[in-house]
Amino acid sequence: MKVTIFGTGYVGLVTGACLAEMGNHVVCVDIDESKVARLGRGEIPIFEPGLEPIVRRNHANGQLEFTTDAAAAVAHAQIIFIAVGTPPDEDGSADLQYVLSVARSIGRHLDRYAVIVNKSTVPVGTADRVRVAVAAELAARGAAIDFDVASNPEFLKEGDAVEDCLRPDRIVIGSSSERAIGLLRKLYAPFNRSHDRTVVMDVRSAELTKYAANAMLATKISFMNEIANIAERVGADVEWVRQGIGSDPRIGYHFIYPGMGYGGSCFPKDVQALERTARDVGYNARLLGAVEAVNGDQKMKLFEFIQRHFDGSVRGRTIALWGLAFKPNTDDMREASSRRLMEVLWEAGAKVRAFDPEAREETRRLYGERSDLVLCDSAYQTLDGADALAIITEWKAFRSPDFARIRAMLKEPVIFDGRNMYEPQVVEEAGLAYYGIGRGRSV
Ligand code: UGA
Repeated sequence: MKVTIFGTGYVGLVTGACLAEMGNHVVCVDIDESKVARLGRGEIPIFEPGLEPIVRRNHANGQLEFTTDAAAAVAHAQIIFIAVGTPPDEDGSADLQYVLSVARSIGRHLDRYAVIVNKSTVPVGTADRVRVAVAAELAARGAAIDFDVASNPEFLKEGDAVEDCLRPDRIVIGSSSERAIGLLRKLYAPFNRSHDRTVVMDVRSAELTKYAANAMLATKISFMNEIANIAERVGADVEWVRQGIGSDPRIGYHFIYPGMGYGGSCFPKDVQALERTARDVGYNARLLGAVEAVNGDQKMKLFEFIQRHFDGSVRGRTIALWGLAFKPNTDDMREASSRRLMEVLWEAGAKVRAFDPEAREETRRLYGERSDLVLCDSAYQTLDGADALAIITEWKAFRSPDFARIRAMLKEPVIFDGRNMYEPQVVEEAGLAYYGIGRGRSV
């Protein structure tokens, strides 16, 4: 089928590549000329395992094109996805200016029936606003062209995006138009070979589904972080508690890992936006507010431990950080817990030596050259002249370090483990002090 996708960010690019991989002819549009040129040369602007080969292959065989020409892109397809960003506004609501500007552009160029599909995470009611924007442009040029607007939220996870996209656990289609539903069912048929994973519903329910999914996941994390904070104070180990509750299938083992709080481009933004949506319709979503507040405090957790360990002041200290990205297998630093930690450490007069397998360039781009930040080429290099080690992102490469070497290199033998990667006993036996999240002895 012929598909057009507006926006070559995370969601747009992965969706475009995967739809092309399934045999569709996909045109990806972006207003950023240099990005389109780079994509045309096979350069992928994001680090995402498995993405580059499918982009290159499908671009080379003509199934995946990149352009800045909105008119040609609209003319190309019967299914037009909107996958542009919806950054948070100052008040926490999603900023729809990019979505609506794409809608207007589609309205200016549409010359026959198409289904316009919102893939970006957009507040409930956005499909209606897109419909109004497209219709206004059509009316302005006196064009009587039929179109539908559907919602088809994306559930991919960074780091597993290609896999999630090629093998989705569900495909949510929000539309009340049989024609639109038929086209989208046909598009997704190859993704549904073993059994039908499609859930068809009305547009508003589909829009809310996306927020509900992310808010539920964020809630699980904040809940576990709260339990960790209680565990710490009562002398329990949250890692046992996690295993104890996860075995109940109603709770499950997934997404109950305590840590330094959730980050990334989705959870913080979506929890805030849903809270805002609730407020706009006269409902005070207390749970969502609490989820966010717990997360904010959790990001300060390691700083509190570090400061306490150094008798209330980190001034003049150098802290080694392992991991900077908001989670492993990505170079994404958006809302990463490392950022909050580095910023408070700097404010308190400490220096940082950090290593991340992928996020080094992104960190440099965000913070530039500064004397209190050294970006190292390896994990052990961070320990040179460092007072203490803090684990921020649970990259596999950090799983079984040489604790004796760490002990020998650090000025002060202590590990602050923000992801509970290590067993306290093992670390302590190697002669290092250990602080973890919710592990009784840390208080
Ligand atoms: C999230 C959702 O998981 C996807 O389903 C969704 O499609 C996506 O947002 C989106 O809306 O586009 P992502 O932001 O890539 O995906 O990251 P996650 O893997 O969900 O991790 C989010 C954060 O939660 C990370 O900072 C991670 O460290 C943290 N986390 C995760 C925990 O602290 N504990 C856990 O048990 C799990």
